[in-house]
Amino acid sequence: MKLLVTGGAGFIGSAFVRLVLGGDAHTVVNLDKLTYAGNLENLASVEGNPGYRFVRGDCADHGLLDQVMDEGKPDAIVHFAAESHVDRSILSPQPVFDSNLGGSFGMLEAARRHGISRYVHVSTDEVYGSIDEPHEADENYPLRASSPYSASKAGSDLLALSYHTTYKLPIMVTRASNNYGPYQFPEKLIPLMISNALEDKPLPIYGDGMQVRDWLYVDDHCRAILAVLENGRPGEVYNIGGTCSLPNLTVVRQILAGTGKPESLMKTVTDRPGHDRRYALTSGKVMRETGWSPLVPFEQGMRETIDWYREHQDWVRRVKTGAYRDYYERNYAGR
Ligand code: NAD
Ligand code: TYD
Repeated sequence: MKLLVTGGAGFIGSAFVRLVLGGDAHTVVNLDKLTYAGNLENLASVEGNPGYRFVRGDCADHGLLDQVMDEGKPDAIVHFAAESHVDRSILSPQPVFDSNLGGSFGMLEAARRHGISRYVHVSTDEVYGSIDEPHEADENYPLRASSPYSASKAGSDLLALSYHTTYKLPIMVTRASNNYGPYQFPEKLIPLMISNALEDKPLPIYGDGMQVRDWLYVDDHCRAILAVLENGRPGEVYNIGGTCSLPNLTVVRQILAGTGKPESLMKTVTDRPGHDRRYALTSGKVMRETGWSPLVPFEQGMRETIDWYREHQDWVRRVKTGAYRDYYERNYAGR
């Protein structure tokens, strides 16, 4: 298939582009706005691949989308592009609204105008909100988003599904748990803690650190998205979890052990407003329907991730720009 991938210069999108171009079944046009989180360095290994083309642009730019669709005539769209960080969505909700709702709307409208044979809308388990023990969300669980980020993702999921119900577009929605792995921007828990630990900086723990997330290695997530793209049923939602639920403190202690740094680097800070206590989901449907299951155990994924950040400190230095330091100051100072 000729794929139009959006957000392919980000963390998960770039892993997906590298995965797809590692085989010979699909070609890729990557449409990315290159926000602070977009980085073409993540795609250095596919530059020059004849099956790959990059277009810089915004998913909310309908005129540009017409041009990209006319030129590339893609068979399928995989829509990753989004503002993806909860803390930034709390500090500045406007870009979240513009990209996650406006950008998703732009892509759906482009698919409606030009026709498309497959469309994966990439979403998150955060749309289900905080879930009490011992419950787990299946795909029919109510949407109870808490942050501007998760609310924008829930809204765009519903919009995407409405394009299947109303216009019969072949839309599939995936909802994955927390990803980790190489090339993740150092604002999310795992890359922030690894990069701070390697620099002997404090590791800011929100509240009591007992919030639970289900960790999924990024390459496992990308294989699941490819499985849904190729074998999923239009109009369906697919949860994708790592089957690895851990409290934040356990994750951070593992990072300190893996980097050989002392626990005294951990620093409790004021909790995130509206902080979801626990995410939990079942992935039985995607496993049954596509045969996918996660392959990378957490200990192995974490070891590889720590090694990657240790070996790519230049990459980290380059993304920790002045704008990153401003964000860090806004989010963490006086907390
Ligand atoms: P990221 O922040 O690393 O990358 C986002 C990419 O989208 C960047 O390259 C950015 O430049 C691009 N982008 C943002 N707005 C755009 C716009 N309007 N037009 C074009 N490009 C735009 O994000 P990520 O962590 O790779 O997440 C990718 C997708 O997966 C998102 O939809 C996110 O909601 C979803 N998701 C993420 C996780 C996670 O743990 N990171 C888990 C589940 C689902
Ligand atoms: P994050 O990586 O932002 O993902 P999400 O909030 O989308 O699940 O955060 C994961 C967990 O780690 C969440 O419970 C918040 C917590 N956290 C901290 O304790 N300190 C931090 O500096 C960050 C960024 C997150």
